[in-house]
Amino acid sequence: MAQPWWKSAVFYQIYPRSFADSGGDGVGDLEGIRSRLDHLGWMGIDAIWICPFYRSPMTDFGYDVADYCDVDPLFGTLEDFDRLLADAHARGMKVIVDWVPNHTSDQHPWFVESRSSRQSAKRDWYLWHDGPGTGNEGRPNNWKAAFGGDTWTWDDATAQWYLHLFLPTQPDLNWRNPEVEVAMHDTLRFWLDRGVDGFRVDVVQGLTKDPAFPDDPPGQVLPHAGVNDCDDTHAVLRGLRRLADSYEGDRMLVGEVYLLSTATVAKYFGNDDELHLAFDFTPLYAPWDADAWRLRIDEAERELGSLGAWPTWTLSNHDNPRHRTRYGGTEGRARAAALLLLTLRGAPFVYYGEELGLEEATVVPSRVVDPGGRDGCRAPMPWDGSAGHGWSGAEPWLPWSPDPETRNVEALRADESSILHVYRRVLAARRTSPALRTGGYRALEVGPAARTVLGYERTADDDRRVALVNFTADPAEVALAGHWTVEVDSESTAEGTPFAGRLGGDQAVLLSPAE
Ligand code: GLC
Repeated sequence: MAQPWWKSAVFYQIYPRSFADSGGDGVGDLEGIRSRLDHLGWMGIDAIWICPFYRSPMTDFGYDVADYCDVDPLFGTLEDFDRLLADAHARGMKVIVDWVPNHTSDQHPWFVESRSSRQSAKRDWYLWHDGPGTGNEGRPNNWKAAFGGDTWTWDDATAQWYLHLFLPTQPDLNWRNPEVEVAMHDTLRFWLDRGVDGFRVDVVQGLTKDPAFPDDPPGQVLPHAGVNDCDDTHAVLRGLRRLADSYEGDRMLVGEVYLLSTATVAKYFGNDDELHLAFDFTPLYAPWDADAWRLRIDEAERELGSLGAWPTWTLSNHDNPRHRTRYGGTEGRARAAALLLLTLRGAPFVYYGEELGLEEATVVPSRVVDPGGRDGCRAPMPWDGSAGHGWSGAEPWLPWSPDPETRNVEALRADESSILHVYRRVLAARRTSPALRTGGYRALEVGPAARTVLGYERTADDDRRVALVNFTADPAEVALAGHWTVEVDSESTAEGTPFAGRLGGDQAVLLSPAE
């Protein structure tokens, strides 16, 4: 049976403010993305995920949506989107867009209306509550918001509290109201009709809340968004899935399920009738350590494998410090991590710029703009070595990651030994290997180096590949049965040579059976 495209796809996440700027205002845009599709095609990317570009007051840089069915002028127009989609499709690249169903902007006309009076027809579209007292003393409960403070904001005019798991400018929608479901399904149809291949669904675990709104246990340190996991959300997801599946062409949903347990995330696949894919952030938070990763991978195999669900793998995204920096800063580790990410069983998500080995940018206090403190991973993509690094006009909205003079697309593309070429070579290897794309996974015994080297085999019928990743700076001897040829080496271009049973510090290799 033919596999859906998303099962063998390598995804690339684009943060549109930071990717490429066609307008010269220092903020990236849709036309900028279109003008840089060549880079992604050359590298071998199958699908792009574009973070929100909808009309927005930008208090959370687009995750506060004021109109789900229009492009913010900062990013361009709907026509720009159509052109981008057509160009991507012409290259055989899929496009998924971000969809933010848990909350809108407080500037969304729905909320403006909901807030206008207690009798408003849209009052119940959001989560309005009385407090324990008669006025604004106390809160309906003790939930904490994601970027600090309480989840409740008092509305003076109508004398009630409204709920927001994130900023006060991001009021939560009431998904128990059938009108909300209909209106939000319409926003999905709007983009499905335009031809998008799917959605990255924001804050899936937040969609419905326990109707009793119970206090979180005393002493709980996580904001409520990190623990909310109400069973009723699964019915919402089944509705979304039916809608996506009613369209031709394997339209897909990949959900952000921000609950830090693989077993809990697994529930959001349902009985293959909820999310097609779900992010599991426990590996993202694992240290760069062979034992820690073995545990995470085994867990994904066990919890998702038993459901027949397809895992996803993410090392970096727009909400967390870049993995090169988290893993200690060396480029060697970033190279080894690339080989790991792109050869595990599941769908890898590459975050823009990680193919250049970008580090976290240093953002001095006067340039901090994000209320969640995430500016360092959102630095502009350096395209070349010129003064503006491909960003002509105004200075980009955030400072550069280190060394853009040398660490840029043009320079690394010209250097076959660069990290960018490691990404490209592994992606090329995936293309020709069913084992790597959709095959099974088996952990390997690699002998005395087992504590520091992770080894695994991927197989599909008689196609076989082995990956070995050295998680430390010390060289390691590896015991491996059979004869193997180096197909990709994270450290050198000397490929096609027999594997000699030895890895250098921070080195990873992809091996194929020797002829
Ligand atoms: C998700 C997004 C994050 C955003 C939040 C609120 O976690 O990834 O960037 O701030 O939702 O929408």
